[in-house]
Amino acid sequence: MDRLLIQGGTPLCGEVSISGAKNSVLPVLAASLMSEEPLLIQNAPHLQDVASTMRLLGSMGATVTLGEDNSLRVDTSGVNRCYASYDIVRTMRASILVLGPLLARYGQAEVSLPGGCAIGTRPIDLHLHGLAAMGAAIDVNNGYIRARAKRLKGTLLALDQITVTGTENLMMAAALADGTTVIENAAREPEVEDLACCLMAMGARIRGAGTSRIEIEGVRELQGATHQVLPDRIEASTYLAAACVTGGKVRVGQVRPDTMEAVLVKLGEYGASVELGEDYVEIDMRDRRPRAADVYTAAYPGFPTDMQAQMTAVSTVAEGTSTITETIFENRFMHIQELVRMGANIEVHGSAAVIQGVEKLSGAPVMATDLRASASLILAGLAAEGESVVDRVYHIDRGYECVEEKFQRLGASIQRLS
Ligand code: UD1
Repeated sequence: MDRLLIQGGTPLCGEVSISGAKNSVLPVLAASLMSEEPLLIQNAPHLQDVASTMRLLGSMGATVTLGEDNSLRVDTSGVNRCYASYDIVRTMRASILVLGPLLARYGQAEVSLPGGCAIGTRPIDLHLHGLAAMGAAIDVNNGYIRARAKRLKGTLLALDQITVTGTENLMMAAALADGTTVIENAAREPEVEDLACCLMAMGARIRGAGTSRIEIEGVRELQGATHQVLPDRIEASTYLAAACVTGGKVRVGQVRPDTMEAVLVKLGEYGASVELGEDYVEIDMRDRRPRAADVYTAAYPGFPTDMQAQMTAVSTVAEGTSTITETIFENRFMHIQELVRMGANIEVHGSAAVIQGVEKLSGAPVMATDLRASASLILAGLAAEGESVVDRVYHIDRGYECVEEKFQRLGASIQRLS
């Protein structure tokens, strides 16, 4: 199992290019199932989750070809199996995104239940209720969801809770349904809007994506299209947080600053000078120690839960006491015990972590438990005095492209031990 060896203490300085968003490319890959014609996906990141999705599409009979300049061409004309096995779904919960597309286009789907994951139980009841309300017959047996519908019917869906992949699954299903579907209390994440752009390029009729009310007028079929994946706001924010925690100056390029506002405001509160360009963000933390600040995670446009672990790392060395409250997932504090092993002073009270900043962390061997926890531990290792080894880095490869190369470009001493 790969590990990352980090020699901490160097302020990160320089520029790094940001890849396409993991949380955009995964639903876009699932959307390829909705048309017989090929979908060309540009700015696709090289990630383990993308490889898993390619394997999933391949297992159904689709052909995915890697093109030049980070493009992927997906041809689903050969799909002959509407089936997502437990083997693949258990490695990547986002596999559930094939449920809506398969059901809408082929009238049937058999998809393994994702089950729990490290950060919480993460049910999919809202996906299933929505599809059932659109007329699907659904039964869950032996760990598999079996869904059937001759043709889904448009309806009003009022989601009890904001769910990102739930909104995406239902929006995709509705795009090929008979009649109009309205999703109320929809997730407003930029990745939902990006998926809607892709679907519209394929011929779908969608209004309001990016707001909490999405209206989808179903069409009979969708066509092939070309779609450019949105930049990854979480990857970009992670490199900015790395500058903040190490006292450096980092510019992230090829980003959409308008999708990162909550994080940028928060980095300002931690004491960073933030400069924005049309497609870049630069933060300067040189000769400064972060100031404590409070973070409260919420659905977009609130502060992203996917940046909570990284800001916890920043808080460990901030001057003063920070409180980090996690409101989206019930068990997303697993990085904390590892940070404590590096000398952090943190107490957890229910969904809040109270962090008394220390002057310096000390390097230690630590274990990553999930994707964003790994990022948090890398940030802590980069800031700490001495050597850290982050184990189980396969988690980070799920969502960060060329992670050690990008950090090395910023002057970090980090290398992979195979
Ligand atoms: C997506 C993101 C993930 C991010 C999360 C929250 C992808 C591939 N993943 O995950 O990176 O951390 O949004 O921004 O885009 N819930 C239910 N019932 C459901 C669905 C969700 O109770 O049917 C609950 C979940 O347990 C959680 C909350 O709703 O407490 C939000 O989850 P959701 O937005 O669905 O997360 P994902 O789409 O899985």
